[in-house]
Amino acid sequence: MTGRRAAGTSAGPGSTLVTGIGELTTNAPGGPGTRDGDPTGLVTDAVLLLDGGRVAWAGPAREARDAVGHALDGREPDVTVDAGGRAVLPGFVDSHTHLVFAGDRAAEFEARMAGRPYEAGGIRSTVAATRAASDDVLRAGLARHLDEAARQGTTTVEVKGGYGLTVADEERSVRLAREVTPEVTFLGAHVVPVEFAGRADAYVDLVCGEMLATCAPHARWVDVFCETGAFTPEQSRRVLEAGAAAGLGVRVHAGQLGPGEGVRLAVGLGAAAVDHCTYLTDDDVAALAGSWTDSGTRPNGTSRAVAGTVATSGAGAGTVATLLPGVEFSTRQPYPDARRLLDAGAVVALASDCNPGSSYTSSMPLCVALAVREMRMTVAEAVWSATAGGALALRRDDVGHLAPGARADVVLLDAPSRTHLAYRPGVPLVAKTWKSGHPHP
Ligand code: NIG
Ligand code: FE
Repeated sequence: MTGRRAAGTSAGPGSTLVTGIGELTTNAPGGPGTRDGDPTGLVTDAVLLLDGGRVAWAGPAREARDAVGHALDGREPDVTVDAGGRAVLPGFVDSHTHLVFAGDRAAEFEARMAGRPYEAGGIRSTVAATRAASDDVLRAGLARHLDEAARQGTTTVEVKGGYGLTVADEERSVRLAREVTPEVTFLGAHVVPVEFAGRADAYVDLVCGEMLATCAPHARWVDVFCETGAFTPEQSRRVLEAGAAAGLGVRVHAGQLGPGEGVRLAVGLGAAAVDHCTYLTDDDVAALAGSWTDSGTRPNGTSRAVAGTVATSGAGAGTVATLLPGVEFSTRQPYPDARRLLDAGAVVALASDCNPGSSYTSSMPLCVALAVREMRMTVAEAVWSATAGGALALRRDDVGHLAPGARADVVLLDAPSRTHLAYRPGVPLVAKTWKSGHPHP
């Protein structure tokens, strides 16, 4: 039920008061109405106030009259929405996608379901389709997938290149990605392209030289696929160090197809995140956990919840282990051992890895459901990892939580609790989202 009480005073989003929230996940422990020791800052019978694209107040209904009046300085809210007892949470932060591509690989998926294993080399068929596509085709694909994600509650998305693999095609990929998100990742080192077959080091020279110089102005991050069949740890280190020297933050694909040195390389270079983590050694797990204790910036949100801030940004933060359960679903590999990471004290994010090869889903609710059902994460851990965890993986402190001052990125579920995200898999449960306070749809 939505009532418009007064016109907004500016062209901005104005103020929106959401009342009657059965269950509000704030990811802001210590806020009004939260319980001690709950990293998700859950508030029942809650109210949320958005103003000027930011969260202005979140807390229990019994405190709302005074708090809202104070926050709005006596103004009436422009819009009031009655959640009718339904659940509200921060918008999902999808910290890992590959959305600049053309074509699909449905035939490869079908063959895999008939017993063929996933191979990194499949990437090259998407490279051929992407190179052959016009800018407008790539833009249309991006828009379609982003709309699909938004309708499922995603309000922040990272987008990688990596299906161009020439200077011009990678420049185009990151330039088009930058039209839709600031979280753009240069992934020239996704796989060695066919024209460089047998000359991987020469391709790495190109990636670290002209390709990086051309792409870096459009990107915030550098990434590399450090895996057998893609790039060796030595080649990966070269790419990541060159990217860091060009001012990019570091993230890494590692441990997808087997154990290797990629995770420790990522931690050693202070990466914001290392993604996949399906195959991990004990040393990898210790390195990921230690990256937070060593830096003294450990956030809440793991099974060993500790006092601290809700989100940590900037240099000195640890390396998030980003798990991508859509990949295991689509490749029939074993799911990553989330409990081993959480129990060791690592910080875990969940992301879709949306791409036409290994995980063609844009659904963060599906990732939450898989993490709970297949990876033994609790509902609270999975929701935290898909919101606050994703924000940490992007070193963002303005999204992934609903403390006052956070970006007004909010999801209203058509369900009384966040548990329904896992309990009702495949059901479109997102009733409404707000992005920077603007409603969608
Ligand atoms: O994250 N692992 C490397 N890259 C993608 C797969 C891309 C593809 O198969 O096209 C991933 O899973
Ligand atoms: Fe990926």
